[in-house]
Amino acid sequence: MSIPRPGLGHGIGLRPKHFGRLLDGRPPVDWMEAVSENYLAPGGRPVAALEKVRSEVPVALHGVSLSIGSTDPLDRPYLAALRALVDRIQPAIVSDHLCWGRHGGRYVHDLWPLPLTEEALAHVVERVGQVQEALGRQILLENVSSYIAFRESTISEWEFIGEVARRADCGILLDVNNIYVSARNHGFSAAKYIAGVPADRVVQFHLAGHSDKGAYLFDSHDAQVPESVWDLYRIAVARFGPVPSLIEWDDHIPELEVLVGESRKAAAIEAQVLGRRAVAS
Ligand SMILES: [Fe+2]
Repeated sequence: MSIPRPGLGHGIGLRPKHFGRLLDGRPPVDWMEAVSENYLAPGGRPVAALEKVRSEVPVALHGVSLSIGSTDPLDRPYLAALRALVDRIQPAIVSDHLCWGRHGGRYVHDLWPLPLTEEALAHVVERVGQVQEALGRQILLENVSSYIAFRESTISEWEFIGEVARRADCGILLDVNNIYVSARNHGFSAAKYIAGVPADRVVQFHLAGHSDKGAYLFDSHDAQVPESVWDLYRIAVARFGPVPSLIEWDDHIPELEVLVGESRKAAAIEAQVLGRRAVAS
C-alpha cells in the first residue's frame, strides 16, 4: 500500500476575489486548491472559474466538512456530491482535515481536535476506508491547529496521523503553520513532529500565517507566512523533499500578486534547501 505524490510545484488557493482575473487569464502559479464545498452546486460563476483554472493548471479539492472523527454517520449526500465534483474536475489531490466538526447532525463550522487514543484511531481508520471507497480514490488528511487537548490522549499527534495514514492507506497534508501553532500552544517540539511523520505519506504542504495572542497562537490564515513558519518549512523540505506546497490565505485576502509572491518564495526556499534552481511559474 502506498500513495503517489504528484509533482505539482507551488500553488495558491482559488478565492472568489480573484475569479475575474483568473477567468481573463492563465493562473500565474503551478497549481491551485479550491475549497470543495464552494463548488458542489453545478453551474454559476464559481464553477466556471474552477473549470477554467482546471483547464490550465492542476487543481486540488480541499474539504472542510468531512468530519472524519465524528461519531455521527458519514454524510452520504455530501460524499455523493463530492464524488460528482471529483469526477468532473479530476483533481490531482482530494483532502480534508483530521478533526471532527459535526455532532447530532449539526455542523459547528469549526475543525475540532480529536482525543488521540487507540479507540479514536481505529474509528478514523475505518471511516477513511469508507470515504475512499465512496470517492473511488485516496484522500489526504490535514493536521489542524489546536488550543486544547484531551486528558484521555495517549498518542502523540504525529504518531496518530502517521498511523491513520498507514492503516487507512491515505496521505497526509502537512500544514506547517498548524504544526508551529499547535507546538507553541501545547509546548511540544515542531521539529520532533516533522521528524516523526512517515515521509512516504506526506503528499502536500500548507503554508499560512497566524496571530500571536500572547498566551497562545491563533491560526488566523490571514497574513503572510512568518519567518518562524518558513524556518519550519526548510526543515520539512529537507526531510520530505519536493512536496507540493500551497499558500493558504482564508481571510483579508490580498491581491493575487501577494499570494503569487508567497508561492514564489516557497519555490525559492525549496530550491535553496534542495540545492536546485527555482523554476519560474
Ligand atoms: Fe491548512
